[in-house]
Amino acid sequence: MLCVSGKDFLFWKKKQLSKGGDQQSLAVLLDCVGGITISDLNLISINPKENLHLKNNLEFLESVWDDHLLKSCPIQYLCGTTFWRDLELKVSNKVLIPRSETELIIDIVFNIFRGKSDKFFFAELGTGSGAISIALSLAYPFSEGVATDINHDILEIASKNYINSSKQTNLKFYCGNWWSPLENFKGKLDLAISNPPYIPKDTYEKLPKEVKNFEPKVALVGGEDGLKHIREIIQRAPLFLKEKGWLILENHFDQGEKVKQLLIENKFTSIEIVKDLSGIGRFTIGRYK
Ligand SMILES: C[S@@+](CC[C@H](N)C(=O)[O-])C[C@H]1O[C@@H](n2cnc3c(N)ncnc32)[C@H](O)[C@@H]1O
Repeated sequence: MLCVSGKDFLFWKKKQLSKGGDQQSLAVLLDCVGGITISDLNLISINPKENLHLKNNLEFLESVWDDHLLKSCPIQYLCGTTFWRDLELKVSNKVLIPRSETELIIDIVFNIFRGKSDKFFFAELGTGSGAISIALSLAYPFSEGVATDINHDILEIASKNYINSSKQTNLKFYCGNWWSPLENFKGKLDLAISNPPYIPKDTYEKLPKEVKNFEPKVALVGGEDGLKHIREIIQRAPLFLKEKGWLILENHFDQGEKVKQLLIENKFTSIEIVKDLSGIGRFTIGRYK
């Protein structure tokens, strides 16, 4: 462990932020590579006379920060780690960095299944880093979950994240196109969740370079109108859900009404567009009959 005075550290931190970037990204770097948590940061701002202990020296941290600023590469990919709810997850450029707005999906589930000891069977389609499924399997230890993705490398990251976060065995991973790997679970699901690729093709072309140049296209683009995957997921959902089973979908900021219409056409009831913390109709939920 390397020791640095609080005063020197705060001077260093101010210098890094003056070059660009945001506090949140710097906090990720400091935690993952420097071993300095948010509570360490808070303590040192209150009492700069204290010393800080670092996993890597400030020169090394600065070189990663400069790399992040120069290439516009997300800090999470450079550090190989991200934080999501109370999870610390490994990420590589094969998986989407799970977004903070997606964290609300877990709260939506908390409103549906209120008891920690509730037993239910859920599926997540397109699990990426595994964030949603891992959080659910930890929150509901008596549930059983299956998480799918289109690519083996992605599932390897998700299953490693599960092993690192939990000693439980109530989550399994399957590879394949949307519902295809779940043929054995027809009519058995109490809940299905997906945050599928939903960005329209033209919008994708205009995304900021830190997203477009680094995050996997397969995780982002939803065809011409963005609804290609959402349509496929909704149309086949009735085969897999139990009667009164829930479907929770994340969608683009302006897709809520269209997703609602698709759910109505496929005989879903109790349909609701749920807003994220910015007031955007980010999630659409419904029950099968
Ligand atoms: C928007 S990302 C969501 C990842 C993760 N669930 C999250 O919320 O951070 C969409 C995920 O769907 C996966 N995916 C894309 N096309 C797929 C398909 N046809 N079948 C299954 N998964 C697919 C991608 O690989 C990616 O991991």
